[in-house]
Amino acid sequence: MQGIISKAITHGVYIVTAQANGKKNGMTAAWISQVSFKPPLIMAAIAPARFTHGLIKASGYFALNTLSEDQIELAKYFGTHSGKQVDKMANIAYFESGKGCPILKEAMAYLECKLVNAFEAGDHTLFIGQVIEGEVLRPEKRPLLFIWDKFFK
Ligand SMILES: Cc1cc2nc3c(=O)[nH]c(=O)nc-3n(C[C@H](O)[C@H](O)[C@H](O)COP(=O)(O)O)c2cc1C
Repeated sequence: MQGIISKAITHGVYIVTAQANGKKNGMTAAWISQVSFKPPLIMAAIAPARFTHGLIKASGYFALNTLSEDQIELAKYFGTHSGKQVDKMANIAYFESGKGCPILKEAMAYLECKLVNAFEAGDHTLFIGQVIEGEVLRPEKRPLLFIWDKFFK
């Protein structure tokens, strides 16, 4: 069934970042959506086992870093290594948003979000964030699309 779902629903690719207790981290996420205009709310579906999950819960903030089509290797790296074992931010150029989330300088765009709700849904948590800051950093770039076969063979 997953093979059909991943072809029937299309996604962009993001690096979700957060900082808490002196730890900064980011992970690749495709299950992201806008869910409200007023207020501006977005949803990130993050599995509880992810290191980033704990950082979002602890800090109450997270950021979305939108990846461009030339950043598939970055997406693979952030999506196949865990902050539990490696410092993924070590060799990455970033600045911090107003609430301290790492923002990749090479991202196409970013949104910083305040966590306003969290719902358990099957094996993921739906984090609902209100967008409080954001910028299109590279308007000339085109977004990376999540095509299952390109990431998982
Ligand atoms: C293309 C791609 C998309 C992914 N999308 C998600 C997602 O939407 N939600 C999720 O929980 N994990 C997703 N993952 C898996 C996490 O990125 C991966 O488990 C990562 O190592 C977690 O890092 P962390 O433990 O440092 O938080 C995705 C991985 C890839 C490669």
